[in-house]
Amino acid sequence: MGWRGRDVVDVRDFSREELEELFEVADLMDKELAQGSVRKRLEGKVIALAFFEPSTRTRMSFESAAKRLGAETIGFTSEEAISVSKGESFVDTIRMLDSYSDLIVLRHRYEGAALLAAEVASVPVINGGDGRQHHPTQAMLDLYTVRRIFGTIDGLSYLVLGDLKYARTVASLLRALAKFRPEAVMLSSPPELRLRDELKRELEEAGLKLEEVPLEEGLRRADVIYVTRIQKERFPDPQEYEKVRGSYRITRRLLESLAKKGAKVLHPLPRVDELAPDVDSTDFQAYFIQARLGVPLRMALLSLVLGGD
Ligand code: NCD
Repeated sequence: MGWRGRDVVDVRDFSREELEELFEVADLMDKELAQGSVRKRLEGKVIALAFFEPSTRTRMSFESAAKRLGAETIGFTSEEAISVSKGESFVDTIRMLDSYSDLIVLRHRYEGAALLAAEVASVPVINGGDGRQHHPTQAMLDLYTVRRIFGTIDGLSYLVLGDLKYARTVASLLRALAKFRPEAVMLSSPPELRLRDELKRELEEAGLKLEEVPLEEGLRRADVIYVTRIQKERFPDPQEYEKVRGSYRITRRLLESLAKKGAKVLHPLPRVDELAPDVDSTDFQAYFIQARLGVPLRMALLSLVLGGD
């Protein structure tokens, strides 16, 4: 099908071959970044960054990626900043952005917002996270990071840990992993934050074998330890959040006593208290590399979708 002009709403829409093509272009972008020789493939393009929900890395790495490639950006970082606060509808806002830009990157607290935007807009829409459902570019980045570190995505054991119920990064990462051949995919979470049944069924139907394991077992077996923050803002009931707050914490001591040598910790960030800062200076740390690779990965995405060769 090819990347040009595509909406990037759901990682399931992309084949393994298309993801591999993306990773190869990201390698090229990273090489150009290192050499200070990035070609301005997107000169004259305007990219809209429509962030209805807070974001640090996703927004800024898209902005940096766009600017590195010579594009201009417009946008907003909260609903309060735009006329939605005066009662303007979401669809009208998207219509405006559609006529002001060549591509829209969107983040919204509602599931389905990106899909709706993609239906309304004639320019491509990239989903920068919608509710608890999808975060396709984060999943692409996660697998790209694994590939950069291990040289492969297949054949590794993955432990996905934390808020499996509300974290959209988890939903998209598992959906993307279903296209590869991992050795094992282990899940560990507080009982209240288990993967939703419908998602579990969907993944199993897609051929992904999932194992629920105790944390210690997961840490012992995993090559990739993917930690997530408890998504406080998505809990319908604050008391439900209080029950699970602080229920898991990955520390240097825990990793040194249990994890395999060579295992790597990924985290989409931001972290709160689930990942101790003392892990930062260990060889397990891969989350800052992951955050850095957000720029070349998103440069690759923008240039493939906008057809800047
Ligand atoms: C994630 C998100 O927004 O879903 N952040 C990100 O894009 N790196 C994870 C999170 O907020 O916990």
